[in-house]
Amino acid sequence: MLQTSLFLIDTYTDMKTDHSTSLSFPNFFKTHLQLNLIFNFLFFFLGLSLGIIATLYLTTISYSLHDIPLSLSSPMLLQQQLIPTPLLSPSIINESSCDTSNVSKEVQLHNMVDEEIFWKASMVPKIQTYPYKYVPKVAFMFLTMGPLPLAPLWEMFFKGYEGLYSIYVHPHPSFNETVPEVSVFHGRRIPSKAVLWGTSSMIDAERRLLANALLDFSNERFVLLSETCIPLFNFTTVYNYLIDSNHSFLGSFDDPRKEGRGRYNKEMWPMISISDWRKGSQWFEINRNLALEIISDQKYYSVFQNYCNPPCYNDEHYLPTLINILSWELNSNRSITWVDWSRRGPHPRKFGRGDINLEFLNQIRYSSNCAYNGNTTSVCFLFARKFQPNTLDPLLQIAPALLGFNF
Ligand SMILES: *[C@@H]1O[C@H](CO)[C@@H](O)[C@H](O)[C@H]1NC(C)=O
Ligand SMILES: *[C@@H]1O[C@H](CO)[C@@H](O)[C@H](O)[C@H]1NC(C)=O
Ligand SMILES: *[C@@H]1O[C@H](CO)[C@@H](O)[C@H](O)[C@H]1NC(C)=O
Ligand SMILES: *[C@@H]1O[C@H](CO)[C@@H](O)[C@H](O)[C@H]1NC(C)=O
Ligand SMILES: *[C@@H]1O[C@H](CO)[C@@H](O)[C@H](O)[C@H]1NC(C)=O
Ligand SMILES: *[C@@H]1O[C@H](CO)[C@@H](O)[C@H](O)[C@H]1NC(C)=O
Ligand SMILES: *[C@@H]1O[C@H](CO)[C@@H](O)[C@H](O)[C@H]1NC(C)=O
Repeated sequence: MLQTSLFLIDTYTDMKTDHSTSLSFPNFFKTHLQLNLIFNFLFFFLGLSLGIIATLYLTTISYSLHDIPLSLSSPMLLQQQLIPTPLLSPSIINESSCDTSNVSKEVQLHNMVDEEIFWKASMVPKIQTYPYKYVPKVAFMFLTMGPLPLAPLWEMFFKGYEGLYSIYVHPHPSFNETVPEVSVFHGRRIPSKAVLWGTSSMIDAERRLLANALLDFSNERFVLLSETCIPLFNFTTVYNYLIDSNHSFLGSFDDPRKEGRGRYNKEMWPMISISDWRKGSQWFEINRNLALEIISDQKYYSVFQNYCNPPCYNDEHYLPTLINILSWELNSNRSITWVDWSRRGPHPRKFGRGDINLEFLNQIRYSSNCAYNGNTTSVCFLFARKFQPNTLDPLLQIAPALLGFNF
């Protein structure tokens, strides 16, 4: 099992050397330089032609002009991936050049390795205005084992809201099923690595998802979901709730018990003190600034790698503690992903087909009161987790009435 994972990671490294050159920045600039030269030459040539041989046919020039869009195609592809609104007309892109290749290559967003993508994602534009029409997006990041059994429900949820969301999927690297081209999940897979429960590989996967999502400058809010998650409200409600919020939604509390403070290791001092130490659910929703802080953090990350190993669980402590140190005033300290811990034990309750009805879902939707931008609201959860694949049919049946999905 372990050997398989290692082998797969190696495969990804190999893929990087094969394909990443077409995506790397130096190449991008190089092509631009070449383009500049071509343009300069063209202008000169054009002026010359107009001045001296204006009466002649311009076939040579029109031939050269036809060449330009073709040589543009590689940087244009990059732009399309990183910036949502292409600056140039998309008609210049030869679509077939994107996906005639093999499936394994096609379904992945890119082939950059972690180091490269974290570094790129940590960059912040210095100019405050956008060179394109800016509409903030919500990044939905799915951390999965393999398939997304509840995908049809999510398809319904997203339908009609293109341009307001982006999707990223981090499955186990050995997952080899393809996603239909018509699906919103098609081509949204990112290069992944195996996640072993209770180890820092979980945090790594979360950071990998964040880094990928940060590359799109329009992504303002970042929500982590799993294959067992469902939306509790329609897209408009979810979008407005997140975009309008002044806070991030990351569970973070001080648990005095053995399962809380008991997991603090004195070796973490002085970097992290016991009064900084927090616990919380891994299923977060955060804003862009915090996402940037998280993927750029090396200081606290290394402390956790060294001193937080089972029974200290990275995914329950690293982010809650980090946000408490970095920007506690911008956190609501609560998760917006509902889960049922009412049955005691190490795992929360799983829901099956028989549990799904309107009353049950409404209970989750409006069951409690919580703070939102300084006011009190009864909408505390936007998502819920631990829904088994067999809940899909009943969920699809009541979803339109319940969530006001538009077909
Ligand atoms: C795209 O390129 C392929 C082969 O390179 C060509 O057959 C096709 O006509 C081109 N499509 C467009 C829209 O230019
Ligand atoms: C792509 O798939 C074709 C068969 O469809 C195969 O011959 C070729 O070797 C594959 N290329 C790579 C790089 O895997
Ligand atoms: C996908 O993976 C499974 C095992 O995980 C394997 O049995 C199957 O042959 C693979 N399919 C393809 C198309 O590679
Ligand atoms: C979140 O917790 C921190 C301390 O851990 C506290 O200072 C802050 O006021 C809390 N925020 C809210 C919105 O309750
Ligand atoms: C939330 O942010 C908005 C805009 O920055 C501001 O006008 C508002 O007062 C803030 N609300 C709270 C409760 O901080
Ligand atoms: C908070 O409540 C007050 C009074 O009910 C209202 O005027 C204000 O618009 C609310 N603010 C938000 C952000 O909902
Ligand atoms: C979304 O749900 C809200 C209630 O949560 C409802 O008021 C609104 O009409 C719904 N919007 C759509 C487009 O269905």
